[in-house]
Amino acid sequence: MSLMEWVSGRTEKRHFYRKPGKFPLGAEANEVKREKMQQKRVKRDERRWMTVLKDRIGRVTRFSGALVAKVSIGLLVVAGLSPAGLQAAPGTKPVVWVLATGGTIAGQGESQVAAAYKPGTLRVEELLGAIPELAEVAEVRAEQFAQIASQNMDVATWLKLAARINELLADPAVAGVVVTHGTDTQEETAYFLNLTLKSDKPVVMASAMRPPSALGSDGSRNLYHAVVCAASPQAVGQGVMIVMDDKIIGADDATKVSTLDAGAFQDPDYGPLGIIYDGRPIFSRRSLKRHTLHSEFDVSGLDSLPRVEVVSSYAGATALFIHAAVRAGVRGIVIAGVGNGNMSAEMQNAAESAREQGVAIVRSSRIMRGPTTQWNEVDDDKLGFVASWYANPYRARILLMLALTRTDDYREIQRMFTQY
Ligand code: SIN
Repeated sequence: MSLMEWVSGRTEKRHFYRKPGKFPLGAEANEVKREKMQQKRVKRDERRWMTVLKDRIGRVTRFSGALVAKVSIGLLVVAGLSPAGLQAAPGTKPVVWVLATGGTIAGQGESQVAAAYKPGTLRVEELLGAIPELAEVAEVRAEQFAQIASQNMDVATWLKLAARINELLADPAVAGVVVTHGTDTQEETAYFLNLTLKSDKPVVMASAMRPPSALGSDGSRNLYHAVVCAASPQAVGQGVMIVMDDKIIGADDATKVSTLDAGAFQDPDYGPLGIIYDGRPIFSRRSLKRHTLHSEFDVSGLDSLPRVEVVSSYAGATALFIHAAVRAGVRGIVIAGVGNGNMSAEMQNAAESAREQGVAIVRSSRIMRGPTTQWNEVDDDKLGFVASWYANPYRARILLMLALTRTDDYREIQRMFTQY
């Protein structure tokens, strides 16, 4: 018995009965083992190569994908557009439309120092002609949309303005729109547009507290910054903005807080969206409210909105104006309440009876900061009233007019006031 036979327990006898190669022994067995190990190595190497190959194919695919994307971008660039249709190709400038509506930014006084002036006097070409630096920022196209002091802004003009801006923004070559406007009702126009425009391209409002004829006029700076913002891809999806005193203020909270200061607009509850610095917008936050593309309101084809009036409460307030509004046939009344949207008992009785006659009642507040909340001193659910949350009385009026184009159900209207 050989050593191998002793270790394997197999005898020479068995060796005689085995088929050749079936039960290898000795050197033959070692050879078989080597062969098997070699086959395993080959298979392992094959697997490794397959992995490397797949990876390389993946990279090549990704590279060709990137190449295809780069070629597509190149073609867009040749066409003068960015991938988003918002950035100009090198050597070209983004197209920004400036729609002028009047206001102090287009005002004219008799001297550089006198307080008296007439708003809505200069034409848009004159405003733009004073800022040659705009040519470095954008290809600016201009339209004199209106020429009014903004205290005369109205629903009919808003509807036409929204239609015109929607039309301009639908053009893939247009990066954004600037609207020049008087400051008195600018926040209302901004909010209306924010809820009715159907594009995520930037729409920026520019205004002034001092006419161009005055020493230290702020209009050119605000207009330049508004164009900078409207031309910027950073501003896409931010909704409608007011740019004043180097700040970018979102339409969902913009409030005029001073009758005279050059920084007349603030966002009392949320703070500005960002600033304009060194010729570019720097954003620090984004509004989570529904607006523009995410708004459910569609005013295309409308030439009026349901009538809604604002009635104030104060010490000793009577029901006079609620009765008058109901008699005039309004569809809704916004209460500019005291504190958290409260009103005198006489007003509340009148509001309850108006509600019973089908008039929508929204409680808002004359206080500048903080929400007008549900489930407080007034039982809105029981009375069928709506609490305005962060909409001040003037934004609440706009939202209620739009809401009433879709529903009379106060629960649905309450849902809208929590989302916009
Ligand atoms: C206006 O709102 O048209 C006049 C006041 C202003 O623009 O500041």
